Amino acid sequence: MPEREIDLKIRRFDPEKDESPSMQEYKVPYVEGMMVLDAVRYVQERIDPTLSIRWNCKAAKCGSCSAEINGQPKLMCKTRVDSIGDRISVSPMAAYPLIKDLVTDVSKNWEITRKIPMFKPRENMEVPWRTNAKDVERSKEFKKCIECGLCMDVCHVVREHYTPYFGPMHIVKAASWDMHPLDSLDRSKFLNKEGGLGYCNITKCCTDVCPEHIHITDNAIIQEKERAIDRQYDPIAMLIKGIRKKEKVVN
Ligand code: SF4
Ligand code: SF4
Ligand code: FES
Repeated sequence: MPEREIDLKIRRFDPEKDESPSMQEYKVPYVEGMMVLDAVRYVQERIDPTLSIRWNCKAAKCGSCSAEINGQPKLMCKTRVDSIGDRISVSPMAAYPLIKDLVTDVSKNWEITRKIPMFKPRENMEVPWRTNAKDVERSKEFKKCIECGLCMDVCHVVREHYTPYFGPMHIVKAASWDMHPLDSLDRSKFLNKEGGLGYCNITKCCTDVCPEHIHITDNAIIQEKERAIDRQYDPIAMLIKGIRKKEKVVN
C-alpha cells in the first residue's frame, strides 16, 4: 500500500446510460509535486479507461482542462494536490452543457466569437504599421487569455440565467480589439445591445478565478460599459464623433 493516498471523487456521467451524473470515489497514490490532472489521469489510465477528460498542454496554456475542483473553477493542470489536501472532488464546469464525465460542450463560445466584429485596422495606414509600445500595453493584457472559460463558469449571469449576456471571456476578447491603438471599430454599443453587457453587475468573481490574472472587470468590462454610456448619452462626445468621423461604431 502506498504511503499516502488521495481520496479523489470524480463526477461521472455517460449519456448512453440512463443514469443521472453521480460522484464516484477513487484511491490514487500520491506522487511528489502531483497536480489534480495527474490524479485524474491516473484514474483514466490505471482504473477506468472509460473516464472522459479534456486536456492538451499540461502547462496552463491551452485552457482545455478547466473543471470545478472542490467547488472552485480551476485548471486541473495548474492545481497542486498539496494546495488543497487529500480529499479532492472534481466536477465538470456547470456553465456549459455536459457531454460526458468532465467534458462539456463549449461550442457556444465559437458562436459568440463569430458574432463579435474582429480587429479592423484603420484605413490608409502607412505600411509597416507603427504604434507606440505604451499604447499597445492596454490591449496586451487581454491577449494573455487562454480561453479556459473559468470566468464564464463562475459568472452567475452566464451560469444561472437565460440572458443574452456573452460572458466575461468574450468581453475580454472584444476589449483586446477595442483598446488596440490601430483598430478602427468601437464594439461597446454592440456589446451592450446584442451582448447583454448590462446584465453584468461587476461583482468581480470572474477576475478572482482568472489563471492569467487578467483584470477582467476593471480593465475590460467597466471600460466597455463606460464607453457605451459615453457614446449613448454624452452630447459633446457625440458631437466630436460626428465632426471627426474617425471611428466607425458597430451597432
Ligand atoms: S463581474 Fe460581471 S462578468 Fe464577472 S462574474 Fe460578475 S457578473 Fe459575471
Ligand atoms: S479571461 Fe481569464 S478566466 Fe476568462 S477565459 Fe481568459 S484566461 Fe480564462
Ligand atoms: S492542459 Fe492545457 S491548460 Fe491544462
